[in-house]
Amino acid sequence: MRGVFIRPISSLKGSVNLAGDKSIAHRALLISAISPGQTKISNVPANKDCLATLNVIRKLGIKFKQKSFDTQNRAKEIIIYGRGLTGLKKPRGTIMCGESGTTLRLLLGILAGQPFKAKISAVAALLDRPMLRVNLPLRLMGAHINARRITPNTQEEYPPIVIEGGRLKGITYTMPVASAQVKSAILLAGLYACGETHVIEQIKTRDHTERMLGLFKAKIKVVGNHIVIKGKRELVTPRQVYVPGDISSASFFLALGILAENSKINIKSVSLNPSRLGIIRVLKRMGADIKVTKSQGHKATGEEPTGDLTVKSSPLRGTVITKKEIPSLIDEIPLLMVVASLAKGETVFEGVGELRFKETDRIKSMSENLKKMGVKIKVISPRGSENIVISGIKRLYAARVRSFHDHRTAMSMVVAASLANGTTYIDDVGCIAKSFPGFLPLLHSLRRKSL
Ligand code: S3P
Repeated sequence: MRGVFIRPISSLKGSVNLAGDKSIAHRALLISAISPGQTKISNVPANKDCLATLNVIRKLGIKFKQKSFDTQNRAKEIIIYGRGLTGLKKPRGTIMCGESGTTLRLLLGILAGQPFKAKISAVAALLDRPMLRVNLPLRLMGAHINARRITPNTQEEYPPIVIEGGRLKGITYTMPVASAQVKSAILLAGLYACGETHVIEQIKTRDHTERMLGLFKAKIKVVGNHIVIKGKRELVTPRQVYVPGDISSASFFLALGILAENSKINIKSVSLNPSRLGIIRVLKRMGADIKVTKSQGHKATGEEPTGDLTVKSSPLRGTVITKKEIPSLIDEIPLLMVVASLAKGETVFEGVGELRFKETDRIKSMSENLKKMGVKIKVISPRGSENIVISGIKRLYAARVRSFHDHRTAMSMVVAASLANGTTYIDDVGCIAKSFPGFLPLLHSLRRKSL
């Protein structure tokens, strides 16, 4: 347990360069592994989750070379020697996915197409995260899956999971939950299936898998909320993929630049994928001064649009964030709860039940912490949908708060603490390494330069 004391900041100024987007990097690594030939992937974030994906592909017999991509060792350049759709080797022993839910769920899609049996497991909170949502469609496609249940009478399934792939057939699947991980697992399994696999989303989620598969020349078509992929065709590597900066990591600096007085922050070359930009749309609606400068062309960036962001201190007002917007900012809700706490009036987050199934129950972790800092928060459930209602206050009170071992709760609380009226203690910030190990050093260096 590594606790920290965070003092309030007066203003924050400077420029930030971020390691690559975690979601895009997972896809680049996994898809390169099942494409024949070499793929060089640059700006892969050196965080625990992406390292878990690298370990997994090593375990499946894929060779790679890695070196540091930047001077501070925050990002890597990795050359993957891919072996094609059927080139993975049967692993010896259990494949461990660490705490990375994206690694585990996407991997299930790939293993569903392999002619061998494999056991996948995880550690810590990932052992308690629901997997039936992935197992169900993969079984419909023909995979044999056995997963842990709490008791024989309960439905939900958890790791460890034993999966035996084989002859898959294409299905048409309407997603019951909005989840990019589940969608991606089905699309990856679709690469191995006879015929076409159709996925229909009721609410659109991040589309990095569709873009990355397109870059690797898969036969994939997206029309509105309907995705079709044709199976049994070898992928073709583009040879080089650059992972653009992580918009979820950027959002902590956006919030600080907006909420701290007399501040201006420039964030260079981040992913501007519309399916991830809910945070920008909502902050602008609340009154934030954010300038978006799009870069030209995005072939090498995994078909991802990129650009720079500049934010300045701005007074904010409350807003309503609708259920349809939630997937485009799902990982930013803890941070937006901090932002809403300092906006004038009321902010409503509609249909946020999925937050209960992240690294921790983020409705609970954030409500408990922000209440300690003086914020009024209500969780209400009209017609089965969970909504959060936050009434903004002028200043947060310093307190002793907890990360609940969740990286996004921890970083959101660092932002809250930086804007409080005194020194705040956060009990355990080691968990931040899951996505953004350089977060605290980067924040400290910006603070020093802003003095
Ligand atoms: C992710 C999808 C989201 C998100 C997670 C990363 C991805 O999860 O919360 O951090 O890379 O596909 P769900 O698919 O469970 O919504």
